[in-house]
Amino acid sequence: MPKSTLIKKTPLMEQYEQETGNLAIWKGEVSKNFKKWKKKKKQEDIKQQKVELLTQSKIEKKKMKREIREDKVADKDYDHLIVVENLHKTYLLGTTAVAALRGVDLTIDTGDFIDIMGPSGSGKTTLLNLIGGLDAPTRGKIFLEGRNISMLSDNSLAEIRRERIGFVFQFYNLLPQMTAMENVMVPLHFSGKLSRRGKRKKALDLLRLVGLDERAHHTPSELSGGEQQRVAIARAFANDPAICVLDEPTGDLDSKTGVMVLNLLRDLNKRGATFIAVSHDAAVSEFATRVFHMRDGKLTHEGKIGGLKETEIMQLKRRQETEINKEKCKCKIFQYLFANQGRVEIPVSEIKNSIPNSIVMNLPEHFNDILQELIEENNFFGRIEGEILILN
Ligand SMILES: Nc1ncnc2c1ncn2[C@@H]1O[C@H](COP(=O)(O)OP(=O)(O)OP(=O)(O)O)[C@@H](O)[C@H]1O
Ligand SMILES: [Mg+2]
Repeated sequence: MPKSTLIKKTPLMEQYEQETGNLAIWKGEVSKNFKKWKKKKKQEDIKQQKVELLTQSKIEKKKMKREIREDKVADKDYDHLIVVENLHKTYLLGTTAVAALRGVDLTIDTGDFIDIMGPSGSGKTTLLNLIGGLDAPTRGKIFLEGRNISMLSDNSLAEIRRERIGFVFQFYNLLPQMTAMENVMVPLHFSGKLSRRGKRKKALDLLRLVGLDERAHHTPSELSGGEQQRVAIARAFANDPAICVLDEPTGDLDSKTGVMVLNLLRDLNKRGATFIAVSHDAAVSEFATRVFHMRDGKLTHEGKIGGLKETEIMQLKRRQETEINKEKCKCKIFQYLFANQGRVEIPVSEIKNSIPNSIVMNLPEHFNDILQELIEENNFFGRIEGEILILN
């Protein structure tokens, strides 16, 4: 019996034979070439393991470093909801650099409704995008709830955007094939905290908050611009954000619808929501609690300085208009009473209906008070009893 049959072939020998085409056992002996191959293979394997270990440890180290860095900047006892420090953003356009932000400092507290006004190209959207974690600054820091978000990795930043920030843009950005409710549910899917039933309930609650629960099953094309923007606001609040950022929230709406949306924002703000909005629309500043003015990448000053003057003039104009309307109203009442001489009891509603709506609608005072004033001024012998004017 040949010797070779006595030596059992190992899997390694089989691998050697397959790879080289040589026999591992020759004339009953383990071949010298196989022994050399085996030694070399062992060394190569050790080398490969070392490389793998090194790569693994490098990844681990990097991860650890990032976690330590992120942990370090997470200050739980923060003074302001948001602190922006010396923020710079420079865009590179080919070979030219565009300095969009040139040192912005800002603090935002919970419950603020901030409006940033400024001419086109002054850097408003850039500032919002940085605060909302959509882009990273070139220089400077942004602390959100005590955490420096300007240093975070892309993944952590995406998580912050998803969990802590609500966004509202000029063109609503609703998904056209989805209903209002499904649109509001989108962020809830991503956070994955609620059951399907929970998500539907929350979406419906949010739509109720913006007065659109009855339109929950309508798609955006079946809603007006103002309604679509209200859905977008409901969606922004889906994950109970720390702050909601709004870029030109009324930019695509007519002034009346814009004011309706702003009223909703003010209402939400009064219930504790925090907003930062940028807008060309001066009406936004009327609803904001703090107004900043921006120019050439810098915040120039805070305050409704320009706005206050405007408001005073507007208030004066409104007061004058009210006075004129009141006089017009009295004149019409007088004409009506003159035409109805001889009657003893006249329903107030009848007198009211005889006056053009445009006059009555623009009078904040109670109609009966104006009627009473007229009676006193003209020494009529009459009195108002309930809803009836009784003349003597
Ligand atoms: N992605 C970009 N790449 C290059 N330059 C940019 C980019 N985004 C903005 N800019 C430039 O940065 C400056 C500030 O732009 P930004 O959009 O922030 O202004 P804005 O105040 O929002 O203007 P608008 O009122 O017109 O919306 C502008 O000069 C603009 O051209
Ligand atoms: Mg802009």
